[in-house]
Amino acid sequence: MSWWKNAVIYQIYPRSFADSNGDGIGDLRGVIERFEYLVELGIDAIWFSPFFKSPQKDFGYDVENYYEIDPVYGTMADFDELLNLAHEHNIKILLDLVLNHTSDQHPWFKESRKSRDNPYRDFYIWKDGKKPHGKKPPNNWKSFFGGSAWTYDEKTEQWYYHHFLPEQPDLNYRNPKVKEEMFKVVKFWLDKGVDGFRLDVIHLIYEDPSFRDNPRSWRLFPSDYSNAWLFQEHKYDESLEETVEFVRELRKLVDSYKEPERVLLGEVLGIPERVRLFYGPNNDGLHLNFNFTFTSCPFKAEKFYNVVKRIEKTLPEPYWPCYTFSNHDIPRMISRHGNDEKKARLLTLMLLTLRGTPVIYYGEEIGMQQVKIPRKKVQDPLGKKFWFSPVPIGRDGCRTPMQWEDSANSGFSSCEWGKTWLPVHKNYKKINVKLQRNDPHSLFNFYIELIRFRKRHIALQIGKIKLFPPKKSIFYYIRETESDVLLIVLNMSKKACSYNLKDLLPKHEENSSIQALFSTHEGKIGENELLAEKLTLKPLEGCIYRLFNKNN
Ligand code: GLC
Repeated sequence: MSWWKNAVIYQIYPRSFADSNGDGIGDLRGVIERFEYLVELGIDAIWFSPFFKSPQKDFGYDVENYYEIDPVYGTMADFDELLNLAHEHNIKILLDLVLNHTSDQHPWFKESRKSRDNPYRDFYIWKDGKKPHGKKPPNNWKSFFGGSAWTYDEKTEQWYYHHFLPEQPDLNYRNPKVKEEMFKVVKFWLDKGVDGFRLDVIHLIYEDPSFRDNPRSWRLFPSDYSNAWLFQEHKYDESLEETVEFVRELRKLVDSYKEPERVLLGEVLGIPERVRLFYGPNNDGLHLNFNFTFTSCPFKAEKFYNVVKRIEKTLPEPYWPCYTFSNHDIPRMISRHGNDEKKARLLTLMLLTLRGTPVIYYGEEIGMQQVKIPRKKVQDPLGKKFWFSPVPIGRDGCRTPMQWEDSANSGFSSCEWGKTWLPVHKNYKKINVKLQRNDPHSLFNFYIELIRFRKRHIALQIGKIKLFPPKKSIFYYIRETESDVLLIVLNMSKKACSYNLKDLLPKHEENSSIQALFSTHEGKIGENELLAEKLTLKPLEGCIYRLFNKNN
């Protein structure tokens, strides 16, 4: 079986996980020192946000050199040590590959902007501006970070294209040399033994060759039901057919490495039906792509059911979904749900029992909450630009230092108190790893038990899924193999409830009786307890039951 299908992936934002040298910024050695924690948690793979050499304008998503580790995070020797350590523990490593753009400090861009006939000019996207005098951007395309996606260069009197910051110019993949160079990067890391890549905004690789204007739209924010945002339908700057072909080529390259199989986990944004294209017509594109629909889903059984139903429809077997609740760009999951730990447990039970690969964001396992960053401490370029927005747009609040202990700087760094790159959440004395490790009922121990439970039950890893329309606030589904049938029932209401099995299951299951195996409130339950036909759930409780056929 492909390892990435049943793996639990954990995202580390290297700047914020653990600081080994007291400069207030996390680093690779910090991860090495805390590695035992990851082993204890039981995860199978780590996705690292970028740690390549970078001016850090977008905290690593602006790469200056793809072959070097940024000194702030350590050295190549540190990386090699970390990779070996991870492999010794059978933990896979996924790197974050930013193929769409580089930093403006990348030597290619420095060359490219020198003159119109520089050999690297064509590594990036340069265009004349609109007439008269070319002082208007070539078309109406918007940057994801606001404003025009074009920046005028006085020296060469042309505009260059950047889907993100002006310091993140887009590469020009219509120039075959660019692909050649970037595939070399891919090979370099695969040869080193990394187990795959998270592909940053991989749907943006190609642009319309004639740079047509995008049609207008009324939508401001991206959503799961439209490919429009910032008042444009993104018809010509996103998800072109050529990009799907590019991903398939990348897949071929990655597939030429075997033992172990390497994985491509995409960050294609957009409606699921479009995302589906990137899995390739023959499942020969991305192995996985983040499904972000949970990150904006209200806490309602019906809503979650609709999301999962749609994903199951767009990605039926053998396609493999990938669910997540948070990452470094999105407010923390628990805070989106009222900082209610019971809700977080319920959603985690869902995450780890649906068909697909789950991705956990660092700190989620101890219930780390979103931090309100005072204006003068804002680091994120988006936060700086939109500091006045009533809707929080800045991304610092979910990137704060990991809360390890109740000591200064939450044990994240030995730097002077309060000098960490982002402030530690004030609640670090109550919410930290050390406290939760010692409490058998903590959220952290719940994660450990649930991950172990998932590992013991193959039905949760690769079993088929049967979804049922919710009964009031109950979202429920079955995961099954030939030998095991598990029923997952999530009570998404603050009221207790009780159901007879026959109320929930269609006719052919009526003959079953149930055994409770796991609960969000109790953790693992004695697996011997047979519970006849009734299910009783406390408020916001989620349970896993085994179904038996009475006739057996
Ligand atoms: C992705 C990253 C985000 C970054 C952007 C530009 O969406 O997750 O953090 O700013 O790409 O690289």
